[in-house]
Amino acid sequence: MEYTPSDLTQRERYKVLTSFVLPRPIAWVTSIGPEGVVNAAPFSFFNAFCEDPPLCMFAVNRRPDGREKDTLANIQRTGEFVVHLTDEPLARAMHESSGDFPPEIGEPDYLA
Ligand SMILES: Cc1cc2nc3c(=O)[nH]c(=O)nc-3n(C[C@H](O)[C@H](O)[C@H](O)COP(=O)(O)O)c2cc1C
Repeated sequence: MEYTPSDLTQRERYKVLTSFVLPRPIAWVTSIGPEGVVNAAPFSFFNAFCEDPPLCMFAVNRRPDGREKDTLANIQRTGEFVVHLTDEPLARAMHESSGDFPPEIGEPDYLA
C-alpha cells in the first residue's frame, strides 16, 4: 500500500495511521490546571520508546477549531503529568474524559 499524506485530509491521515498499529494502549493522562483542578484525558498516540534516555511519549493534537488542549497547556506550565493505564471497569470514564470539558471542570471528579 502506498499513501501520499498530502493527498489525504487530516481525518483520513488519522484513520490510516491509527489502523497501522492495533490494538494500541491508551494513556489516560492527568495534569494539574491553573486553579489546581485535576485534568484527565485519553491519548492513543502513546508508548514507551527508550530506556536511555527514559522516554515515555504521547502526542497532543490541537482541537478541530485550532485551540490548544488543556493537557498540553497544563504540562507546559507545570512540567508534570502522570500516565495511567485503565482497566475495563474504568474504560467508560476514560473514554468520556475525552469530551471538551472547560478547564475548571476536573474530569476525575465529574465522571466518578
Ligand atoms: C480513545 C481515545 C484516544 C485519543 N487519543 C488522542 C491522541 O492520541 N491525541 C490527541 O490529541 N487526542 C486524543 N484523543 C482526544 C482527546 O482525549 C480529547 O481531545 C480531550 O478532550 C483532550 O482533553 P484536554 O483538553 O483536557 O487535554 C483521544 C480520545 C479518545 C477517546
